[in-house]
Amino acid sequence: MANVFFTPHKVIVGEGALKESQASLCSLGKKALIVTSGSMVRGGVLEKLKESLRAGGCDCAVFTDITGEPSDQMVEAGAAIYRAEGCDFLIGVGGGSPIDAMKAIAMVVCLGGSINDYYGKVITEPLPPFCAIPSTAGTGSEATQFTIINNTVDNIKMLLKGPSLMPTLAVVDPALSVTTPPKVTAFTGLDALCHAVEAYTSKKAFPLADTMALSAVRRIFASLRRCYEQGDDLAARADMAQAALEAGMAFNNSSVTIIHGMSRPIGALFHVPHGLSNAMLIKPCLTFALPGCFDRFAVLAKEIGVWKEGMSEQEGAEAFLAAVEALCEALQIPSCKEYGLDQEAFFAAIPKMAADAQASGSPANTRRAPSVEEMEALYRTLF
Ligand SMILES: [Fe+2]
Repeated sequence: MANVFFTPHKVIVGEGALKESQASLCSLGKKALIVTSGSMVRGGVLEKLKESLRAGGCDCAVFTDITGEPSDQMVEAGAAIYRAEGCDFLIGVGGGSPIDAMKAIAMVVCLGGSINDYYGKVITEPLPPFCAIPSTAGTGSEATQFTIINNTVDNIKMLLKGPSLMPTLAVVDPALSVTTPPKVTAFTGLDALCHAVEAYTSKKAFPLADTMALSAVRRIFASLRRCYEQGDDLAARADMAQAALEAGMAFNNSSVTIIHGMSRPIGALFHVPHGLSNAMLIKPCLTFALPGCFDRFAVLAKEIGVWKEGMSEQEGAEAFLAAVEALCEALQIPSCKEYGLDQEAFFAAIPKMAADAQASGSPANTRRAPSVEEMEALYRTLF
């Protein structure tokens, strides 16, 4: 069976990428809407980008109000600026949130209506060109045809998808991530790890995507801890930036599975950062998923050097899971309780969360696919 592998039209990756992207950026249109957050303003990245555009003969308007994970309301506000300013392309710069918001704004300005109208549809209509410039190594949104937007009417995290949501241009410059605080480094890095592990063990996995997933897992184990402990290590940051890009390419084509499926409802209802809710779920979800493909998890163990001569596939798979748990511990990932989630409210929400997880379609990609009842039981183990 043949497989389709989607990537951005162009990727500029490595040290100096932002500087070298001027001509590519300015070829996208005459006036950009830059979608970003306060940290990019304070860190001076926005100013550098504006200067680069100006020098390249390109105009821009700025929308800096991405204050957290993007919502339908933020998308509406950004779309209003795009229209009022007469923009003809978009640049999302920052963590996954501004990039995801940018994709949704591109949809709304082109297709009309509310972003909430597009939940469950595959977006294939041509959109204005857009460029993703990630400042964290995590979501991989720069290389995916997905965007996650909070629907504040129905209290769900909508996964919107379609080939039109793939960025025209991705600029991945590790220098942008050196100021990422340790906690955010840990959460986003584990998000990338989940992308790669889920993609590699998904029912939809295939060799080209596997290559990206394996490389990403290897890089994350080699460099995430270093980024957490020594944020200004540019070589480690470059490794993680590439890992997040590879993991994005992997899951864009092979899909995520049980962890992401169960993670989104926790984020939607309890406003836990995406990477953290993934991290909280890693142990119970992978413990559940392991028997679905001991062989694939054993390959992951070999990739990170924890497989030992004479181990069975099951033992190799378990060694990989133990290494993931040790990494989470080194990154000081809090439990639901330590994070301060209200156990009673959490338990009351379990039926809705399990139903929403199943409806997203992601858990069904797991080689040992969980039922709704099994996911309810897994949620209960988090306390
Ligand atoms: Fe993710």
